[in-house]
Amino acid sequence: MSHSFQNFIGGRWVPARSGRTFANLDPATGETLGEFPASGPEDVNDAIEAAAKAFASWRLVPAPKRAEVVFRAGEIIRQRKADLARAMTGEMGKVLAEAGGDVQEGIDMAFYAAGEGRRMHGVTTPSEMPDKWAMSVRVPIGVTGVITPWNFPFAIPTWKLMPALVAGNTAVFKPATDTPELAGHLAAILAEAGLPAGVLNLVYGSGSQVGDPLVADPRVPAISFTGSTDVGLGISSRAGALGKRVALEMGGKNAILVLDDADLTLATEAILWSAFGTTGQRCTACSRVLAHQRVHDELVQRVADGARALRLGHGLDPATQVGPLVNRAQLERVEDYVRIGRAAGASVVAGGERASEGALAKGHFHRPTVFAGVAADARIAVEEIFGPVLAVVKVKDFAEAVRVNNASSFGLSASIFTRDVQRAFAAMRDLETGIVYVNHGTTGAEIHLPFGGMRGTGNGHREAGPTLLDPFTEWKSVYVDFSGRLQRAQIDNQI
Ligand code: UN1
Repeated sequence: MSHSFQNFIGGRWVPARSGRTFANLDPATGETLGEFPASGPEDVNDAIEAAAKAFASWRLVPAPKRAEVVFRAGEIIRQRKADLARAMTGEMGKVLAEAGGDVQEGIDMAFYAAGEGRRMHGVTTPSEMPDKWAMSVRVPIGVTGVITPWNFPFAIPTWKLMPALVAGNTAVFKPATDTPELAGHLAAILAEAGLPAGVLNLVYGSGSQVGDPLVADPRVPAISFTGSTDVGLGISSRAGALGKRVALEMGGKNAILVLDDADLTLATEAILWSAFGTTGQRCTACSRVLAHQRVHDELVQRVADGARALRLGHGLDPATQVGPLVNRAQLERVEDYVRIGRAAGASVVAGGERASEGALAKGHFHRPTVFAGVAADARIAVEEIFGPVLAVVKVKDFAEAVRVNNASSFGLSASIFTRDVQRAFAAMRDLETGIVYVNHGTTGAEIHLPFGGMRGTGNGHREAGPTLLDPFTEWKSVYVDFSGRLQRAQIDNQI
């Protein structure tokens, strides 16, 4: 059944001014799930105006009260978790249990961010002068532009919007066009929880028609983006030239290091889950295994057997383990990389082709694919593919594994399988990624720890965790002199 959805601007559900729409498709069947506004710069302008107006009053609502709205939203999300998960599987394709996990991350973030309303700690500190008070407080930035990807259609918007709103900002939210429905549900839930009109504005549409005007508008001083490296760097250069604050979360090429003393059964399970869960479409997905030469052949065998046994299908079917790619372009990208891998001489030990038997022919399905004999610097071992393709690279020892891991232009997550406490701790110290796992795959970050990556993955910001307010607040230092006389800092009162 196909429904019609609208933008949410100034507290009202409205179509694009042009009246144009785009279709939301189920990637497993090609079926149309809904029609959404194909907005343009004029709609973005309306949204920014509404957000700028609402900022004048929202910033003055006490933070604990702002946070209560987010807390109530968390309660509503919890009640509707099953429905939200089903809708997500429909539009994005990930299997139902994973869609439930994505919604759960939103619930976790709601409760965590809501607690921040009663913290938002600043620092008080003695002044160097007598009869003078010094403190620093966090203040909101203003209208924030929030641009989110399709792979975590619910969790990632919550990571950005909830801290931004608790901190007293207003927002213009542009979700990915592949997963518009969940964004609409999030906006509706926040409104139902009591968010005043104009505080959150949702504008559907493409990067060029909605994203670009949002990034360029001088009334939007902060942009938070998660998505591809190309788009992120483009946003960063345009917004950076305007002096804006930009928080970027982009690609990954996450490795699992398997040492010669690893529990291979556990490592195999973790590799399969990290590489093929969400059909490889996580920025934390494992796309490289760096296997110690002594366990390499055995591990390749096990991983290939496991990959071949994974069941593809519609994510709503409880028997399905791997859903479709999100759209045709992603499927074609995966096929291109499989060709590139073969041409470079790597061998396909599992998968390597589309899956099109029976009902799979209607969707964007690709078999979980494992390459062995991959050179550490081969394109399939260094470029982000964002699909169910895993490259296994043989390494001679722990030191080489760390070196190969750190040579990546990305630095989001890495994992090591070993029973040796010395090498585990050395890895925790030496792996240059924002997230390190020991005896666990590369996915599964929890929202109360900082999330983000080094090098090409981001630009130094961390989302979630105790750092969650940083992209959305300014620091203001306040000095109160109650001496009744002019006291010159650094000059008077020298002893
Ligand atoms: C992402 O893929 O962009 O750690 C986010 C994980 C999830 C979040 C992934 N909690 O895999």
